[in-house]
Amino acid sequence: MLKGKIAIITGASSGIGAALALQISREGASVILAARRREKLEQLAAEITRAGQVALPITADVTKRADAEMLVRTAVERFGRVDILVNNAGRGHFASVEDTTDEMIRSMFELNVYPLWYTTRPALTQMKKQGSGHIINIASMAGKIGYPYNSAYVAAKHACVGFTHALRMELMETGIHATVVCPAGVLTGWAGETEGGSMLEFFSASGPAIKRLASERGISLPAIEGVLPAEDVAAQIVKCIYNPVAELFTHKGSAEFLRLIAENREEAEKHQIPVVLGERAVYERLKA
Ligand SMILES: NC(=O)c1ccc[n+]([C@@H]2O[C@H](COP(=O)([O-])OP(=O)(O)OC[C@H]3O[C@@H](n4cnc5c(N)ncnc54)[C@H](OP(=O)(O)O)[C@@H]3O)[C@@H](O)[C@H]2O)c1
Repeated sequence: MLKGKIAIITGASSGIGAALALQISREGASVILAARRREKLEQLAAEITRAGQVALPITADVTKRADAEMLVRTAVERFGRVDILVNNAGRGHFASVEDTTDEMIRSMFELNVYPLWYTTRPALTQMKKQGSGHIINIASMAGKIGYPYNSAYVAAKHACVGFTHALRMELMETGIHATVVCPAGVLTGWAGETEGGSMLEFFSASGPAIKRLASERGISLPAIEGVLPAEDVAAQIVKCIYNPVAELFTHKGSAEFLRLIAENREEAEKHQIPVVLGERAVYERLKA
């Protein structure tokens, strides 16, 4: 059903971006695959080509405006249009507020925020000519609520959510859609790639501590679905290409928890006490 459509996906070399590229191509769209790891992009492009679809791997560092703009220019020169732009490239960091360096803050915004403008500005020029298009920004539940030891990432993903809503307003009744996707945990390399050290040990050690504290204190944890495979998240994004929504919450319970926060933040945050205390204990031990 996406035959003839052209999609650009940043961060297509692994995780959500790679899974989405495969699924969008299966729907018939041609895909431009962008990331820094050339070999991974070429492997994915070969898989898509073997399945009879079109994929163009492009090495690009989206923190560089020229690279990001080149993606859109290439799509227009090569295919004459841009129908779907997925701003997915992203990375987290692992540090308490006191341990967050200026460099971490800068790099979180340089990757998770600035490229939203770098790719969207030229894409809009083309989409406005077409009178159609869909810009999909991959934020996170970290763009809607606070998580400890990720403050710069949380702030950057909140910026991604804000950017998308401002964009939606500007695009009202233009035929161009904008969606922000807010996944909770997804089984990808993300947690192992966080700046300031991997979060893998932190997550695995804090899980049991959180459960123990919740049981000791008789507090129910936020009922947000656990870690999902990237393919499940990608499948939900594909559905949203057919039926665009403003915000896509990929994990069950996310929207309900956000409603609880909107109604009564203090009450909702009580459910996070075991999470915060469990993670604090592990953070202090790991950083000691
Ligand atoms: N995994 C989760 O639990 C989770 C939850 C919520 C939201 N998210 C968000 O989902 C998005 C995808 O992450 P993921 O979970 O799929 O992790 P991932 O497998 O680590 O994917 C991150 C992608 O971003 C690309 N990337 C990083 N820096 C880049 C740069 N400077 N220029 C171009 N591409 C760059 C990486 O490719 P190269 O290294 O090859 O450049 C990779 O393809 C991110 O925005 C992330 O914040 C993830």
